[in-house]
Amino acid sequence: MPARADSEPRAAGRGEDGRVPAPFGRRRGEVIANEPSGGYRIITALDPGGPLPAAGQFYMLATEGGWGGDGERPFLPRAFSVAEATGGAEGARLSFLLEDVGPGTARLATLTEGDGLLLTGPLGRPFSPPDELNPDAAGAILVGGGIGLAPLALWRRTLASHGIPERSLLGFRDREHAGGLELFRCSEIRLASEDGHVGHRGYVTDLLERMLAGDSARTAVVYACGPPAMLEAVRALCELREVAAELAMESPMACGYGACFGCAMPLRSGGYMRLCVDGPVVRAADVETALVAGAGHR
Ligand SMILES: Cc1cc2nc3c(=O)[nH]c(=O)nc-3n(C[C@H](O)[C@H](O)[C@H](O)COP(=O)(O)OP(=O)(O)OC[C@H]3O[C@@H](n4cnc5c(N)ncnc54)[C@H](O)[C@@H]3O)c2cc1C
Ligand code: FES
Repeated sequence: MPARADSEPRAAGRGEDGRVPAPFGRRRGEVIANEPSGGYRIITALDPGGPLPAAGQFYMLATEGGWGGDGERPFLPRAFSVAEATGGAEGARLSFLLEDVGPGTARLATLTEGDGLLLTGPLGRPFSPPDELNPDAAGAILVGGGIGLAPLALWRRTLASHGIPERSLLGFRDREHAGGLELFRCSEIRLASEDGHVGHRGYVTDLLERMLAGDSARTAVVYACGPPAMLEAVRALCELREVAAELAMESPMACGYGACFGCAMPLRSGGYMRLCVDGPVVRAADVETALVAGAGHR
């Protein structure tokens, strides 16, 4: 299988697990666009000094102006998965899918063209190619819930650019908590929504259960990102059917690069990992549960 990301020309400096190392320090990116996408927003910025990230990696983001100060939240930058990344002469063009849930996302949602976006990244461990998880892999099944479809959008593009077949299952709570579908253009998508406004009425994991029942577990590989309850259902289903899986997980993150231990979570084998450096993409078999305390998306 060829190297895994859209960023092959820059792949030389990658770590063993495929991660693209972040340049030292925080950089100023410039916002190119900030568009609504259903109930979410897609913010695109030019990162002149940054490398192209691998799918599953994330950035710590803050606005150049109006972040903290005068005792106002937010104080710390916030973590966001990169949803699209393309390279050009002017640098990396990065898109983030954002749900306004608090002071940081509310401030980011107000950015306009030309505003400064402060970036640290790319950070964390990316998705692994299907044949690394299962030597008999016939393709990939991507399972996204709500805002969790962000890292899967870039992973889908990466798989497609290497001719690896993928099928995407995307689920939403309701119309207000749905968006970002344009990031999945050209994909074979099946949709679910809890309120029935689109696709199957129910959970995205209902679709996964059906798909796995029709597939051979011997050749399946699942990649999932979404709220903890959804990830836990995916993890349990894959364990039951002995299907290899990776989960892109969330936890509260203060630094994003291993210094604060705020993102520690238990390993099945004992001990702890720091989700920002040992994840956010983890092998499903390495965790007892995907229910992470403090990861608040529903
Ligand atoms: C690796 C990683 C990737 C992420 N990618 C994205 C992304 O692509 N798009 C996106 O919109 N968000 C993403 N998040 C979540 C985002 O970083 C948090 O929602 C962030 O805390 C929002 O900041 P805030 O100041 O707006 O709200 P906060 O004041 O931090 O919190 C507001 C509400 O959000 C909930 N919350 C707090 N922390 C988290 C968390 N880590 N995850 C889920 N809910 C939380 C709380 O329950 C609270 O009610 C990601 C988080 C991580 C760790
Ligand atoms: S967020 Fe600080 S160690 Fe992970």
